[in-house]
Amino acid sequence: MTLAATTTQSVKLPQPPQAEAFSAAAFRRALTLFNRLPALDPARLRQSFVAKALHQRLAAGAATGYDSYLTALEQLPDDHPEWQHLIHELTVHDTWFFRHPPSLAYIQQLLTGEFSSLDQLRLWNVGCAYGEETWSIAITVAGSLKQQRRSIPWQILGSDISSRCLNKARTGIYRQTELKYLDDATRMQYFAHAGNGLLRVTGELKQHTCFTQANICDSVTPMNAAMHIVYCQNTLIYFSSSKKQRALDNLAAALNPGGVLLLAPGEAHGWSHPAMRNISPGNAQLELFQRMY
Ligand SMILES: C[S@@+](CC[C@H](N)C(=O)[O-])C[C@H]1O[C@@H](n2cnc3c(N)ncnc32)[C@H](O)[C@@H]1O
Repeated sequence: MTLAATTTQSVKLPQPPQAEAFSAAAFRRALTLFNRLPALDPARLRQSFVAKALHQRLAAGAATGYDSYLTALEQLPDDHPEWQHLIHELTVHDTWFFRHPPSLAYIQQLLTGEFSSLDQLRLWNVGCAYGEETWSIAITVAGSLKQQRRSIPWQILGSDISSRCLNKARTGIYRQTELKYLDDATRMQYFAHAGNGLLRVTGELKQHTCFTQANICDSVTPMNAAMHIVYCQNTLIYFSSSKKQRALDNLAAALNPGGVLLLAPGEAHGWSHPAMRNISPGNAQLELFQRMY
């Protein structure tokens, strides 16, 4: 059996032909199959969540029932696009602009303090979803450098496991409602009208920004050079502790000596690394680690 052509367009999807119950046996079969997905932690997935994800794939026309879908998946090579669609449905992508102001304020603090004499700057935003976080960091860096009248080469890389998220992130196009947390001055400075009520990130930010697909659990060397800042929030919460440990070790390995890892509060609970010093302030708003060597 081959999977039917599927769509990634944001159209209202038809319902699967029949509302079939997702049995416990089908759930177990799905979890076994998901072990082929190194980016996921099948043991952390709930039956209702998996049912919803598979339902989405059926609604997109990938198959006519859960069993036939799983049978088809079992036969697909690892690089078949259907796996990408499935990974997207099996991961959570909630995000918004300026989601965690204390972390962005800390980047500003670094740029005016400890990092004020750097002659270039590389940042990596891990688990960037649809790009709102990456562009928020880019706006923060651009604003801070401008305020300091400082001109240095800087680059920010956004990465995610979902290629569908990255496709949107790369366009830099958002609805007005998605920009509701931006003040008018920021919106006017960094976005231009793109028609149909949409706004597009301007070239001023785009020239410093790129996106790539990467699994946080793989050891990756983004940009082929060590990072000054790695920003990873609300992504590790979906991992088991062993996978979280591996992911954090990878992020630590990507940093320059002196480089800083910014996590969401509580995300690194129980993690330690010989080269990393916990520099979080006591106020529980920031979770920070600095590479010592
Ligand atoms: C809840 S969103 C968080 C987005 C953003 N960091 C924020 O805080 O607003 C989590 C993102 O992590 C991505 N993700 C999940 N597992 C991943 C993995 N193994 N490698 C890379 N990205 C992953 C998901 O695709 C999703 O877009």
